[in-house]
Amino acid sequence: MRFAPSILAADLADLASALQVCERAEAEFIHFDVMDGHFVPNLTFGAPVARALARRTHIPLDVHLMVSNPRPMLDDYLAAGCARIAVHWEATVHLDGLLTQIRNGDARAGVAINPATPVESLVDVLPVVDFVVLMSVNPGFGGQPFIERSVAKVARLRQMIDRAGHEVEIEVDGGVDTPNIGALSRAGAETFVVGSAFFGSSDPVTKAADLRRAVAEAS
Ligand code: DX5
Ligand code: ZN
Repeated sequence: MRFAPSILAADLADLASALQVCERAEAEFIHFDVMDGHFVPNLTFGAPVARALARRTHIPLDVHLMVSNPRPMLDDYLAAGCARIAVHWEATVHLDGLLTQIRNGDARAGVAINPATPVESLVDVLPVVDFVVLMSVNPGFGGQPFIERSVAKVARLRQMIDRAGHEVEIEVDGGVDTPNIGALSRAGAETFVVGSAFFGSSDPVTKAADLRRAVAEAS
């Protein structure tokens, strides 16, 4: 179980405190949602903010690029010291090249897929991808309800990866909380992005422990 709080759900006027909460909760990654107002309607933050956060914490940044044209900005995120960068399958026709660019920049390369994109679309990139971000909401906003059929989708992806014999991690993003995290883990997900359920909790550190316990009990 790897826990990746989504900073989008934190108090955006006080990101330094949000980092401290993530550290107290022993988060494995900090999930950083980049939205461009084009690929998704919302607009969030960019590489200068990622650089500032990376300087303030030892927790690796997990960048999720919800942007129409990721290629020109990859180098900025790599230079900012981001450990993991995911681009959307739906956003590019040159996915193989982008993943190679990320890996050549010494980061882990990820592909994110929308709820309507079949996992089978990934079959030819499995050898060049480190992790898949399986969206369990439609990207664009935090705090949306979890799409239940994502559990079966995780299981199908896990089976596909294992059959092909690759080492690819499955990360689930959107609406993750204690009622669904156990089933997601059993289906084969390893990394869990949690936004509103974590930062919206009155006691985020206890919430993180509850999430870890739910995964441990499910396995
Ligand atoms: C959605 C983002 C998610 C979101 C998760 O577009 O990619 O990372 O912040 O937040 P919750 O957990 O609130 O769905
Ligand atoms: Zn995200």
